[in-house]
Amino acid sequence: MSAPTTRRSLLPLLHVSEHLTNRSHKTCQYRCGNQCAQEVPNTSGNTYFGDMVAAAVSRRSVLQGVAGAAVVTSVAWGTAEDAYAAPGRGNKGMAPFEPIAPTPADVDDLVVPEGYSWAPVISWGDPVEAGAPDFDVNNQTVESQKMQAGYNADYLAIHRGGAGNNGANKGLIIFNNEYTNPEVMFPGYDPVAGPTAEQAAIEMAAHGMTIVEVERQGQFSPWAYDRHGARNRRIHAWTQFHVDGPAGGAEWMKTSADPTGHMVLGTLNNCAGGETPWGTSLSGEENFNQYFNATGADDAQGKLKRYGITSAGRGWERAEDRFMVLTEPNEVNRFGWIVEVDPEDPTSMPVKHTALGRFKHEGATIRLAADGRAVAYMGDDERFDYIYKFVSRDTYVEGDKAHNMTLLSEGDLYVAKFEGDGLGDGEWDGVGTWIALVKDGASMVPGMSVAEVLTWTRMAADKMGPTKMDRPEDVQPNPHTGAVYVALTNNTRRTPAQIDEANPRASNKFGHVIEWVEAGNDAAALAFTWRIVLIAGVPSDPSTYFNGYDRSLVSPISCPDNVAFDEDPDHLWISTDGAPGTIGTCDGMFLMPTAGPDKGKVQQFLSVPTGAECCGPVVEWADRSILICVQHPGEDGHSAYPYLGDSVPRPGVAHVYRTAR
Ligand code: FEO
Ligand code: CA
Ligand code: CA
Repeated sequence: MSAPTTRRSLLPLLHVSEHLTNRSHKTCQYRCGNQCAQEVPNTSGNTYFGDMVAAAVSRRSVLQGVAGAAVVTSVAWGTAEDAYAAPGRGNKGMAPFEPIAPTPADVDDLVVPEGYSWAPVISWGDPVEAGAPDFDVNNQTVESQKMQAGYNADYLAIHRGGAGNNGANKGLIIFNNEYTNPEVMFPGYDPVAGPTAEQAAIEMAAHGMTIVEVERQGQFSPWAYDRHGARNRRIHAWTQFHVDGPAGGAEWMKTSADPTGHMVLGTLNNCAGGETPWGTSLSGEENFNQYFNATGADDAQGKLKRYGITSAGRGWERAEDRFMVLTEPNEVNRFGWIVEVDPEDPTSMPVKHTALGRFKHEGATIRLAADGRAVAYMGDDERFDYIYKFVSRDTYVEGDKAHNMTLLSEGDLYVAKFEGDGLGDGEWDGVGTWIALVKDGASMVPGMSVAEVLTWTRMAADKMGPTKMDRPEDVQPNPHTGAVYVALTNNTRRTPAQIDEANPRASNKFGHVIEWVEAGNDAAALAFTWRIVLIAGVPSDPSTYFNGYDRSLVSPISCPDNVAFDEDPDHLWISTDGAPGTIGTCDGMFLMPTAGPDKGKVQQFLSVPTGAECCGPVVEWADRSILICVQHPGEDGHSAYPYLGDSVPRPGVAHVYRTAR
């Protein structure tokens, strides 16, 4: 069940073709409805800051020059072993693990450092709810899939507790099931004809979230899931969600099946998420647009276009006509929200919180403000879209879960503006402000009501001058320091004329990471200072930046997506989605210390199998325990992950653990 640790002493030169995109063809098709091939939805006229200062020109011209000359399309780098054997590297013995060498993109293996092993915890199709049958790729039904683990796992969290060992070796995991790959799921699938009605319904059942109880025998053993766990639950496209907040019950939220506008069936394209201090899980509905077919629908106001809703669809209207916008025009307004689930209570009804706005939500992560209000940080994962934060009206009450579960129902919504300092000092940094869209229960956006601002948040933000970012994925505060990190995964459409100090690379194929600190380190503050801590890529690319660390001593990294923290305040973990198409390696997970002598030293911890992205890392470093999601293995080729004896690739959750002291 566990795969051998793989070490490579020599990495071949890797050549990345110009035509390769950051994602594989099928990822584009199924996850985001080919959004990269479509027009940029944000056509608003927001200005680009920071490129008006002559002093900044020198460093900026380096970035433009690299992209313009396409140097980055053919790259080579030393091995991690080379890097760590480099003269002058005096702290080799202090490395928290021996970094793995970059893994060529066609390797079908989950590669972990020496001293570690791994095992699948749960994979697509494993039985979850009572009565669920064993997985059988040749005998899939809607009813069985509703009770089995969902498809492409993304966000992941663990809740400790349960009977025995003071709960240390028991708990539950919750993970998102973002999207489906029908061409991989269904033997004999016809990609030209698209899904049959039954296949579409099975895909609907494979979306959503999965909750299962888990158990391990101790530190040096893997987590395993309990198919009979009392809290096991599947949330899928027919699970009832209550819609709360100012847009709940609005006219445009009502459908023929739900005249109240408060009850939605299902959650779709759940990407990243976050745990709340009160013990619930948040999850972002991201590329929900792709499930809706807008053929013939009226879009005079451009609301469908701003959200990327086209006539393409996924063929789901064959299963249910609510996915046909012409037939059920308001159903599309009921997706694109942050949802809150209480995984401890399998009978609880999850909630869609309209107060947090509607966009392509990557996820939401919570930090409490100095006065106890709950602050949610959120990214809108689209090229040239924005970073947001929500500040609750009411304050957190320790131990009062019922009260705390109302905190995300009412509050203020802000969008971020980043301004560079314009100094040619070798750093990309400056100040930022939070622009209010909703404040004290009132709309701050001319011509839009609160409920309109929250439902068409992108269009509201367009009017207020925020900074257009390079696809904001995870936005997470470090729980120890309060510093916030955002992974900006890439944006190849940004032109040299469109760069600013917070998005300083034209044709940004490899992405970057920004760190900011709120004024007074108070999450509710309306101003912050920021700096870029990572400009990703291969270290031989002069446009890369590793927080000031010697770039010849780091692992190559591309397309940061999820970030995570552990017990060490200096540990920033980054998982990636896009390395195969940009730097020719498998995606993986990296440690990048944020302070101390190793600040900026990117070290690769693991790589996921060919075609997969690495998601949802949960790091319990004191235990040397790392849970990850392996999403879409073999998406543009073939993988046999999780290597259980057949050739069916099955996305799911894996546990990486130390095998000995
Ligand atoms: Fe689902 Fe933004 O990645
Ligand atoms: Ca991603
Ligand atoms: Ca993501």
